[in-house]
Amino acid sequence: MLDWDELEHACRNCQLCGLARLRNNTVFGVGLKTADIMFVGEGPGEQEDIKGEPFVGPAGKLLDDMLSIIDITRDNCYIANIVKCRPPNNRDPQPQEQDACIAYLRNQVALVQPKIIVCLGRIAATRIIEPNYRITRDHGTWILRNGVWITSLYHPSALLRDPSKRPETFEDLLEIRKKIQQLSIELK
Ligand code: URA
Repeated sequence: MLDWDELEHACRNCQLCGLARLRNNTVFGVGLKTADIMFVGEGPGEQEDIKGEPFVGPAGKLLDDMLSIIDITRDNCYIANIVKCRPPNNRDPQPQEQDACIAYLRNQVALVQPKIIVCLGRIAATRIIEPNYRITRDHGTWILRNGVWITSLYHPSALLRDPSKRPETFEDLLEIRKKIQQLSIELK
């Protein structure tokens, strides 16, 4: 396992898949490195690639609004993605790109040691929870794995495309807040 500096350095210089050639910046992650709750998206979009920070485009604005409902900010959680470099034209990251990148996320999880992980969207949920995960059916359900509670929300981009999904996401957010309380987590 690498420490934060080693990991960020390795990620910034990574050439493990073809996305490396296309990037302006790697998008490593942001937030509190000792957070009890971690959010995992899919991969950087255009704005994220330009700024080197996750969820800074339109989906990110919505994510901030969603998190504020349950008193979460970028300073009291940790946010990362399955892949750290932008897939061209915002296509899904391919399985071999995810395979090449996933060790960075595993190392981040090992360093943060969150009590809760929230997968944002299908790609994160199928990768982290289980390959047959169906986000429309399974969002908001919980599993406990190695002492970590794991759930999913619709991806904010999906909520921008289809606002009719927002009420379900509101309910899921309230369940996350409940879990935070049940686990006696004090948001820092
Ligand atoms: N969508 C994601 O999944 N991650 C980001 O960082 C931005 C948009």
